[in-house]
Amino acid sequence: MGDDALLNRRHFIGIAGMMGVGLAAGVLPGGVRAAASSSQKTKIGIIGSGNVGSALGRVWVMKGHEVMFSSRSLEDDKALAAKTGAGASAGTPEQAAKFGEVVLFAVPYRALPELGKALATQLKGKVVIDACNPYPARDGEIANWAREKGAGLASAELLPGARIVRAFNAVGAARMGAAHEAPGRTGMPIAADDAAASDLASRLIRDIGYEPILIGGLDKGKHLVPSGPLSGERPPDEVRKIAASL
Ligand SMILES: NC(=O)c1ccc[n+]([C@@H]2O[C@H](COP(=O)([O-])OP(=O)(O)OC[C@H]3O[C@@H](n4cnc5c(N)ncnc54)[C@H](OP(=O)(O)O)[C@@H]3O)[C@@H](O)[C@H]2O)c1
Repeated sequence: MGDDALLNRRHFIGIAGMMGVGLAAGVLPGGVRAAASSSQKTKIGIIGSGNVGSALGRVWVMKGHEVMFSSRSLEDDKALAAKTGAGASAGTPEQAAKFGEVVLFAVPYRALPELGKALATQLKGKVVIDACNPYPARDGEIANWAREKGAGLASAELLPGARIVRAFNAVGAARMGAAHEAPGRTGMPIAADDAAASDLASRLIRDIGYEPILIGGLDKGKHLVPSGPLSGERPPDEVRKIAASL
C-alpha cells in the first residue's frame, strides 16, 4: 500500500470525531501561530521537505520550535520556510543536519545511503527521527534489502552514528499535520535503541499531537511500515495491545 492510500485506511479515526476535542488555542486553519508546546524549544533539521517534512515542520513551528527545511531544491525550501513562518528557515541537507538538535529524515528510502555518507559527520551522536519507508517499486533494490533486514536496523546501518528513532512511518502525511487538533487521541508507535533519544523524540511527537508508544528496540522497526500490524491511526491503548502481541 502506498503512503497516499494510508489516508483512507479504515483504522483512521474520523476527523469529525476528533474536531470536538482539544482544538489548539489560537491556531487558525491554514495559519501558523504559536501554540502551547509540551516540550522545550528545540532546533529541528528536516531532510526532505515534501509531504511529511513540510507537514511535521509546520506543526513544530506552530508549537514554538525552530526548523530548517532541506532537500535538493533550496529555492523551494526557502519558499516553504517563508510560508511556514518566523521559526522556519531553509538550508542544504548539510546545514539542516548541523542545525538540528534533532534531525527528521523524510526522503525516499533510496536517498539514505548517499545522505548517510554525506552527512556522517553532522549526524554522529544526533537524534534522528526516521520516517522513511522502503518501497521496492519506488526505491529499487535497497528497499528489498531494507525490508528483509527490517526498516529500523537497515536505517541504522545506512545512517551510522545517529541515534535513530523510527516514527511517523505508517500514517498519512495529511493526518500528521492535523493530529494536533486532538492531542493524545492517537498512538504513535516508535522504535529505538537509545532511551534518551526516544525521550527527546517522544516530546516532539507529542507536540505533533500523537501519544508516543515505544514498542521496542530498532529490531521492532520492521513492524513500523505501511501495511504493518500497526499501520493507520489507532487510540493509544489499541497500539499498546497490538505492540504487546508482536
Ligand atoms: N506521504 C506520506 O503520507 C508518508 C507517510 C509516512 C511515511 N512516508 C515516508 O516518508 C518519506 C517521505 O515521504 P513524502 O511523501 O514526504 O515524499 P515526498 O513528498 O516525495 O518528499 C520527499 C522529499 O525528499 C527530498 N529528497 C529526495 N531525495 C533527496 C536527496 N537525495 N537529498 C535530499 N533530499 C531529497 C525531496 O526533494 P528534492 O527531490 O527536491 O530533493 C522532497 O523534499 C518516504 O520515505 C515515505 O515513504 C510518507
